[in-house]
Amino acid sequence: MGGDRGAGGCRRHPGLPQERVEAQLSGKREYRVTFLPGGKEARVAAGATLLAAAAAAGVELPSVCGGEGICGRCRLIVRQGQVEAAPTLHLSREEIKRGYVLACQAVVRGDAVVEVPPESRAGREAVVDLDAREFLAPEAEAGEKFPREPLVEKLFLSLPPPTLEDNLGDQERLFREIRRFRPAPILQAGLKVLQSLPALLRDSRWRVTATLAQRGGTVELLQVEPGDRAGTTYGAAIDVGTSTVVAHLIDLNSGETLDAEARYNSQRAYGEEVTRRIIAAERQGPTRLQALVVEDINDLVSLMVDRQGIKLSDVVAVLCAGNTAMVHFLLRLPPGALRRHPYVAAALAPPPVRAAEVGIRINPRGLLYLLPGIGGWVGGDITAGILATGLHKCEGLALLIDIGTNGEIVLGSKDWVVACSASAGPAFEGAGVTCGMRASRGAIAQVEIHPTGVRYRTVGDAPPQGLCGSGLIDAIAGLFRAGYIDRAGRLRPDAKLVRERAGELAFVLVPAGEAPREIVITQRDIENALRAKAAIYAGVSILLREMGVRPRDLSRIYLAGAFGSHPKAQIEPEGQIPNGACKRYQDCRQCLCRLFECHLRGHQQRYDWR
Ligand code: FES
Repeated sequence: MGGDRGAGGCRRHPGLPQERVEAQLSGKREYRVTFLPGGKEARVAAGATLLAAAAAAGVELPSVCGGEGICGRCRLIVRQGQVEAAPTLHLSREEIKRGYVLACQAVVRGDAVVEVPPESRAGREAVVDLDAREFLAPEAEAGEKFPREPLVEKLFLSLPPPTLEDNLGDQERLFREIRRFRPAPILQAGLKVLQSLPALLRDSRWRVTATLAQRGGTVELLQVEPGDRAGTTYGAAIDVGTSTVVAHLIDLNSGETLDAEARYNSQRAYGEEVTRRIIAAERQGPTRLQALVVEDINDLVSLMVDRQGIKLSDVVAVLCAGNTAMVHFLLRLPPGALRRHPYVAAALAPPPVRAAEVGIRINPRGLLYLLPGIGGWVGGDITAGILATGLHKCEGLALLIDIGTNGEIVLGSKDWVVACSASAGPAFEGAGVTCGMRASRGAIAQVEIHPTGVRYRTVGDAPPQGLCGSGLIDAIAGLFRAGYIDRAGRLRPDAKLVRERAGELAFVLVPAGEAPREIVITQRDIENALRAKAAIYAGVSILLREMGVRPRDLSRIYLAGAFGSHPKAQIEPEGQIPNGACKRYQDCRQCLCRLFECHLRGHQQRYDWR
């Protein structure tokens, strides 16, 4: 809703934000909304929500539920003006007195000045930097594990000029030379390449560089350049995540990762859960969602090539991995069937396509490859995880758990691999939690709770802003050990630091004086986390039972996803996996491969597939 209106202006009235055009056409009064700090402004029609006004002003707000009033994340403080807010349980009485509203539940009735509080804007740049650094970390081991056989390569060729005795056509002469260096039973060139070939071969004195790309069993001659350009072959590996889009620039000659960059997925304006975005795509068509993620990819790639002094036209391939819904959005495939029984994808293994066809700006003839998915809710990102961990080559049985909104679980060895998914909800990503946030700067990621008080650590050792998934798990475990909650997760009303807040019990983790706002864990947060944990637990248990595997049969357990990057969460999984496996996990943790983000190495191996 909000992002659609704000970002691109109106097609019929270019230059005017959509909100303003609608206001003019409808004859409604327009009002000015100013956002502090920064002073960005939007003019919107009377009755527009503050969330829509924020999008029109280019102010990004967290909107986990896509503006349904469910997540409580789009908090703003009204400083001046007329704003009408619907009642909500997400704000305490004191907060309402201080002017807090939920942007999606507050409508504009006059000119207004609103403030974006720190919890609604914190950590954006930090998470991107942290992510990018972490994703570079496993690089050193990758070279040994994966042989380099790139999907796209450049060959410098010196062709013998034609003679009466050797009068092959230009295309056939080039193909003959290519086949001297690499096997290519089926070799194809497009019409544009053929049209330019005669002049190019002669002008370059028959010394040219051919760019070759694997497309299934066919090798495509993507382009021919004059002279020796073989040293300039680059590709981008992109992890298209629901929350973040992470890109790596790779030198396809050496296999070296030259640069990494990450940003939040701009589709978040349509909700942080995939199903909300699918619903948005069904209601409004998939065009806008596709444009947002493609723009994210384009921004990241151009940032990296500029920084590395590389020509965009030398980037000849992009490889993307993502969950099945993200792949649908990227290719503008209708995603509706994914969320309805029997949860079928439009395509699980889309063929390589011209990157330009979906709007990705690299070499105009460059290709977009997508890692194949496994099922409607087990996507190409999990294929990447399997490749990266080498689970499919393990002698013993291994389990891979990618913990996120959708938890994917893979069990297998070199002999067989089986996968399933479990809908855990967004609690592990800090969403849908009263004071939740992603694992970005200022997020409480580790918690110790003692009868005497609370100790915590934040990401980047920054002042606390909220609670991320691993912090939530730590906190709940601590609450149980310290006797604040019982086995069913119920808070003890008489316990110290437990108090009533907006009609429910809450444990005060950080009092208001120590943080921009009081950070609490409510009874509902605990219930949500228990449900999320139960979903993952059920997925693991069912998979093990169906395959006749006992937890003690497991030799390795890999935790993937941002949640798996927190050391304490790895060492003390707190019931994420069955008790027996948990013990085994403890026993074998020294041989556990720590996965900050396993997708990257999967990407790089994909480049090596023939
Ligand atoms: S409550 Fe406003 S976006 Fe979720």
